[in-house]
Amino acid sequence: MKKDLEQLKDDFLALVDKVTDRESLETLRNEFLGRKGKLKAAMKEMAQLADEERKAIGKIANEVKEAIEVAYGGQEETFKKLQREESMGKEWIDVTQPVIGGESRGSIHPVTQVQQELEDLFTSMGFIIADGPELESDYYNFTALNIPPTHPARDMQDTFYVEGADGVVMRTHTSSVQIRSMRRYGAPLRMVAPGRCFRNEATDVRHEHTFHQLEGMMIDKGISLSHMKGVLEIVARHLYGEETHIRLRPKFYPFVEPGVNGEVTCFLCKGDGCRLCKKTGWLEVFGAGMVHPNVLREGGVDPDEYSGFAFGFGLTRLVMLKYGIDDIRHLESGDLRFLKQF
Ligand code: PHE
Repeated sequence: MKKDLEQLKDDFLALVDKVTDRESLETLRNEFLGRKGKLKAAMKEMAQLADEERKAIGKIANEVKEAIEVAYGGQEETFKKLQREESMGKEWIDVTQPVIGGESRGSIHPVTQVQQELEDLFTSMGFIIADGPELESDYYNFTALNIPPTHPARDMQDTFYVEGADGVVMRTHTSSVQIRSMRRYGAPLRMVAPGRCFRNEATDVRHEHTFHQLEGMMIDKGISLSHMKGVLEIVARHLYGEETHIRLRPKFYPFVEPGVNGEVTCFLCKGDGCRLCKKTGWLEVFGAGMVHPNVLREGGVDPDEYSGFAFGFGLTRLVMLKYGIDDIRHLESGDLRFLKQF
């Protein structure tokens, strides 16, 4: 009997290597280990054996069964692996496809939210969205904007100069995109350019070395200050509601003439005066003016034919006002406790 059992095992081991698919593997296993299988049949005679011998044979039968199972398992694994490899060749995943019903993983940064809102507004008025580098040439950032190397205005916008790269600075404002856009698109032109700017600041709740602006420019024949006021009023009302007014007061910027400091009615007190507007009723949110002829010339636009206005919104400031953020440093901190609120 012992021999019969061992023969059974050898038979199985010989056959198992020859099967070529999972179905015949299953059949083979049943043939040996199934209820009406060979092992059961071989063990029928066990009942007639003496206790001692039955124990010994039982042990062998178990070992045979185990060996068959192991061989079966090994072969099954081989088939599974083959099947996996085959389907991997056929199936593919589009990793660019958006997750359907997936858990949302983040939120849009408040600066980006306000930026997108303004981009929508300006494109609806026919403005294009322009872009320029954050690491900018000294020329585009200052000189071309009527700020020659010796001009004191350079001190107002102290920036980060780059070691070993002469004439290159981290841009201090988005106004550098004015020149780039004029050169690229010519006149007439309507563009806005949102982006990151940098200044060498001693940081505190109101000052940060990195912040955002939104530049804008409109050039055409016969553009005047009233066009500028009209466009900026639309922006102010879009941001803070229909009753919002704007106030323009003279301010010097080398690249505009005349230049203005732009304020909007304080949205908190509606102009009565409160803590937010420091009792003035007005909030300062942009700088603007009629593009200086020298700047038009640098952009390749003839100032005798064309005129235009330009403006620069403090995007970061708009965001702080909108959400009542009292420390500018939160915005660039990357702190999730802050960002998850938006
Ligand atoms: N670039 C100016 C600043 O950063 C803002 C400005 C833009 C003023 C365009 C006038 C015209 O302060």
